[in-house]
Amino acid sequence: MQRLVITGGAGFVGSNLAIFLQELRIGLTITCADSLKRRGSELALPRLRQHGVGFCHLDVRCPEDFERLPAFDLLIDCAAEPSVHAGIGESPMQVLNPNLIGTIHCLEAARKQHAAFLFLSSSRVYPIAAINELDFVEAETRFTLAGQQRLPGSSATGINEDFPLYGPRSLYGATKLSAELLIQEYVHSHGMRAVINRCGILTGPWQMGKVDQGVVTYWMSRHLFQQGLRYLGYGGTGKQVRDMLHVADLAGLIVKQMRSQTGWDGQIFNVGGGLDCSLSLKELTEHCRHRTGQTVPIAAVPETAATDIRIYLSDCSRVQAAYDWRPVHTVDTILDDIHRWLVEHRPQLEQVL
Ligand SMILES: NC(=O)c1ccc[n+]([C@@H]2O[C@H](COP(=O)([O-])OP(=O)(O)OC[C@H]3O[C@@H](n4cnc5c(N)ncnc54)[C@H](O)[C@@H]3O)[C@@H](O)[C@H]2O)c1
Repeated sequence: MQRLVITGGAGFVGSNLAIFLQELRIGLTITCADSLKRRGSELALPRLRQHGVGFCHLDVRCPEDFERLPAFDLLIDCAAEPSVHAGIGESPMQVLNPNLIGTIHCLEAARKQHAAFLFLSSSRVYPIAAINELDFVEAETRFTLAGQQRLPGSSATGINEDFPLYGPRSLYGATKLSAELLIQEYVHSHGMRAVINRCGILTGPWQMGKVDQGVVTYWMSRHLFQQGLRYLGYGGTGKQVRDMLHVADLAGLIVKQMRSQTGWDGQIFNVGGGLDCSLSLKELTEHCRHRTGQTVPIAAVPETAATDIRIYLSDCSRVQAAYDWRPVHTVDTILDDIHRWLVEHRPQLEQVL
């Protein structure tokens, strides 16, 4: 796996991963391919160039664009419309085309090259109603999962890969689950080597956070740039909880996966920061106030959107056992990193975020 193509390679995960891998100086040739659809993804181009990473303008919806790529041994698919709200109140094709059709084109390109495939899936494959049925306790600053849970694959520390998959999950989540199924079929029918990482919230510097995706950088930037926020849903208390993983920790895992024989038979792994690296919005607010020295108005919107979930925590036992991997970053180091990045690049980022 010396020659890599990363689709969505100018996005948050793709560009950070490319630079991390290039910095290892282990003789990889990396080409990032992206349509630059995401606002701010163009900021990755000089960073990629500076690190000697190639770039190809490519739209994953267009199979002919893949002909422009150099030969490769591994395709890492990070191209997506990553918002859980995508396709709602607009044509579902806005999310089906880039995510599902796009991933099919990526799979086909990999099959033709006899290349391996690594897929960035999402915790959003798990159904909304089942997650919201988990027993919980309302504590002062957050909702917590109760010690005893009735559904398989769930516990006080989160959700593992055995969690039930029946029920609606958002169009975004459905594209990810559909793509997972197809990837496993390519493994079965074409002998493709593929691994699937179902990620919880990923964050870190260079994430172009917006209200519906990239919430951690969005929250910190709104504090720094003194703009108002809203606690949406669940009574407007800001107690919804998510785990988060620094993109450098994800990159560390992918290096381990590339060096291992394990998992390439289409295995699926939950990947996230877990309970130890989780926050509610209310807690995130306190962290942001502390770092930026700013307090911004936060409106409470009690009504819960149909796609919202109360708590998501990744139970990463399987991936930890398979690769002997643990995240290094903590809540504090992640937020320090994001704050430092925002301050250092403020004039540039204030235009985009
Ligand atoms: N960031 C997270 O919290 C998170 C969590 C779970 C899974 N994921 C998944 O990880 C992957 C990377 O997410 P991200 O956070 O870097 O998102 P991102 O929006 O920063 O990056 C996605 C990139 O894909 C590009 N893109 C969109 N449509 C395209 C198209 N038709 N052709 C080519 N490129 C296109 C965008 O321009 C962007 O640069 C996605 O598949 C996402 O679903 C992300």
